[in-house]
Amino acid sequence: MTGSAVVKTQSIETPEGTFTIRLILDDLGGIYPGMVRYTVEVLHGTESVYTYAINSYEVPPGSPFDTRRLADIVFARLLHDVTSRPGPYTRQRVFTRPLPGATPADVIILQASPRRLGNSAKIASWCDDEATRAGLSSRVLYLQEMDIRPCLGCYACYDYGYCPVDDDMPPIIRALEAASLLVICTPVYTGTVPAVLKAVMDRCQWLHAREKVLGKEVHARGLLVAVAGRRGNEPFVCVTRVVDAFMGNLGIHPADPVLIGGLDRIRDVELIEGLEGRVRSALRILLTPEDEG
Ligand SMILES: Cc1cc2nc3c(=O)[nH]c(=O)nc-3n(C[C@H](O)[C@H](O)[C@H](O)COP(=O)(O)O)c2cc1C
Repeated sequence: MTGSAVVKTQSIETPEGTFTIRLILDDLGGIYPGMVRYTVEVLHGTESVYTYAINSYEVPPGSPFDTRRLADIVFARLLHDVTSRPGPYTRQRVFTRPLPGATPADVIILQASPRRLGNSAKIASWCDDEATRAGLSSRVLYLQEMDIRPCLGCYACYDYGYCPVDDDMPPIIRALEAASLLVICTPVYTGTVPAVLKAVMDRCQWLHAREKVLGKEVHARGLLVAVAGRRGNEPFVCVTRVVDAFMGNLGIHPADPVLIGGLDRIRDVELIEGLEGRVRSALRILLTPEDEG
């Protein structure tokens, strides 16, 4: 975030005490070109009890109401509401959704194949086992068994730091926030990643928004292990690019990927001599503390 300024302030004396309404302008141009966000904040005494935020990427060009105008309307409505019925504003109204989910793990493995006993799932189990052997906590997320909807492109995550779509993303976000190593185990589908993995990656814009707005530095590492039916490098060109872009967006440093072609039947991966050792050693390198790569 490049700058924050209070644009206007108004105090209100009520039988419930003193309230202040502030309009704050944040310049988010460091994240996206020209992006600004207006936040209207209600304070009871010094405690922040309510916030409303809107950013310029939510408002279409040529709209009769620009972002500032909309923020001014909310400011005026809140001024009226707090003056006429201050009661509800004496306690905090929290709109940030808590993120449900299991206990955080050191290593998160995103398994993107619908085949629960397929090649990607087998590789995920090797990675999970290797992390456990190294004394780390590890969790495999079977993305195809979760309810993940596509990104709406609403940019609301830049307002509140969470996504309004109601599905299984919150535990994934929480897991990624806590993990120091992310492993993606995926098949190649039509030259790229399966739709559910792409949806997860798009929805992680939410995590990107949080990290950027909060100025959080990320030190996690990442590993892609991809399988394909065809041999050679060609099936992996798009997959590696997409996964690199995803990890780069989140500040995750990707290691050299492990790419395995010529697999089609459900457990083909077990038939390739030395492959299990190759996958395990790629992971072990990333689990070694002295490797800061
Ligand atoms: C819908 C679909 C699309 C696929 N597209 C490709 C492809 O573009 N290139 C390729 O080499 N293999 C492709 N494959 C083959 C899979 O990548 C391959 O069978 C892989 O081993 C499946 O991994 P899994 O056992 O983890 O599901 C495709 C398979 C499916 C079901």
